[in-house]
Amino acid sequence: MSDAVSMMNEAAERIEPLLSKVFPEDLSSDITVKAAYYSLLAGGKRIRPTFMYQVTKMLGKDLSSVDVFACALEMIHTYSLIHDDLPAMDNDDLRRGNPTCHIKFGEDIAILAGDALLNRAFELLFKASFSSENALSAAYNICTLAGINGMIGGQSIDVSSEGKSISIDTLYTLQEKKTGALLEAAFVTPCILFGCDEKTTSLIRKLAGHVGLSFQISDDILDVTSSESDLGKTTGKDERDNKSTFVTMLGLEGARAKLDDEISSSYSILDSLKDMGYETDHIRPVIGFIAERNF
Ligand code: IPE
Ligand code: IPE
Ligand code: MG
Ligand code: MG
Ligand code: MG
Repeated sequence: MSDAVSMMNEAAERIEPLLSKVFPEDLSSDITVKAAYYSLLAGGKRIRPTFMYQVTKMLGKDLSSVDVFACALEMIHTYSLIHDDLPAMDNDDLRRGNPTCHIKFGEDIAILAGDALLNRAFELLFKASFSSENALSAAYNICTLAGINGMIGGQSIDVSSEGKSISIDTLYTLQEKKTGALLEAAFVTPCILFGCDEKTTSLIRKLAGHVGLSFQISDDILDVTSSESDLGKTTGKDERDNKSTFVTMLGLEGARAKLDDEISSSYSILDSLKDMGYETDHIRPVIGFIAERNF
């Protein structure tokens, strides 16, 4: 666990100075920019950048070549959280240990802050994509995974399933999209950028699928078992909102068993990558962290 935390801290130390200047300096007094930075720089585990940097390291490449992609991904993730917390969606008032963006700045500015983060992320990706065909493909892949075929699509199923009973297949589709898609972006971006062979890319995409599911299962478990002070967000809200989650559909023990399965499958893929000659030891603890985390 501490290995994982120190790796996430390392990624945070790398990315936070970059995130703190993603908007032009002359706009720093704009209220929407202030609100965007408020949420973007409020901490968070930075697990998506952590995985993006770890895969880059596994491929033996320079971390600086993925910085802009890691920033864009964390900006898109933060916008998704700002909008997810709005009264019209999950109506939450605590995020990353602080009042949510709309509680602090009002709903109008919170909507704009989310929009500004998403749009600015796309601007950064467009700019990066001028440098090579691979960069263009990597940027396009992130945009696609953030959209209706990915995160937004998952959120759409999530909000329209509130209070309804859904099938287990729908639950998987919902979770794979709403959480899995941005984790897939974290894992696969370096593969596209550095032109990995098809076998490696497909194994890493599969790994991302298991990690994404593990991450959302543990999010659902923590909503029931953790505390507000550990998590930095309100707990018990899935039941409050009549959400279908891995816990409501499989029970706490069933969800834990499924989480263990997904972690084991992730480790098996890491073993296969290791057999192919890749150094994967640094990724294992962060995957283990997902199973044991309390924040
Ligand atoms: C929370 O994501 C929302 C989900 C997709 C489960 P994180 O748990 O990564 O949130 P932060 O970035 O650490 O705040
Ligand atoms: C949200 O899932 C995932 C996003 C795409 C933002 P949740 O609604 O379960 O996330 P939390 O629990 O509020 O962080
Ligand atoms: Mg939600
Ligand atoms: Mg929520
Ligand atoms: Mg949740």
